Amino acid sequence: MKTALFLAALLPLSFVAHADNLRLPANTPAAFQAECGSCHLAFPPQLMVADDWRRVMSTLDRHYGDNASLDQETLRTIEDFLVRNAGRGKKVLPVGAATPNGEPPRLTSSAWFKRKHHEVKHADWAHAKVKTPSNCAACHTKAAEGSYREREIVMPNGRRWED
Ligand code: HEC
Ligand code: HEC
Repeated sequence: MKTALFLAALLPLSFVAHADNLRLPANTPAAFQAECGSCHLAFPPQLMVADDWRRVMSTLDRHYGDNASLDQETLRTIEDFLVRNAGRGKKVLPVGAATPNGEPPRLTSSAWFKRKHHEVKHADWAHAKVKTPSNCAACHTKAAEGSYREREIVMPNGRRWED
């Protein structure tokens, strides 16, 4: 009984601690970092649902204005990895097929992403050092390691977020 109460008290804390930890799993295929981390950050797979990742992977020749095509084998390896580690449950909901200009879904247009960034001002998104919300590492100094703690955030004007 005492143990159960103790665990119940701990649960909300562990949930909060989790939100800023988006490390890639240890068994991430090397191809993911190599092929999906060359133009931008290799995004954490848990930030989109499986169907949205399938949409991204089936349209690589029309990738947000770029061509990110892959050979079939590499494509399969990366898609399997993304689908296996995709977000599920209530945290990340599908972005879906209805996207502006018919481009693939964006994790940065999810309600979750918007909620997490509701305090970020338009000028910060538009800043020359940021340019697009998908440029996670422009503000999250440890994004490459999958760490998004508030105390690691430095805004484009050089100001720490937590000051
Ligand atoms: C040739 C360069 C290039 C490669 C390679 C590439 N991407 Fe992209 N990706 C882009 C560009 C450009 C954007 C649009 C950036 C923007 O407007 O924010 C983008 C955006 C994205 C987005 C949406 C980001 C958001 O705003 O939420 C996802 C998801 C994504 N890429 C996944 C991948 C995956 C998975 C791979 C590997 C299979 C990959 N990308 C490889 C260039 C590339
Ligand atoms: C313009 C700067 C900026 C960019 C770009 C940016 N973020 Fe953030 N992010 C912030 C700020 C500031 C906060 C804290 C906001 C708040 O508390 O309202 C935050 C919060 C977060 C959190 C919540 C951390 C926690 O402790 O709960 C996560 C996760 C996160 N961002 C992920 C991302 C990812 C993934 C990307 C790229 C796809 C990204 N961010 C792009 C500035 C940015």
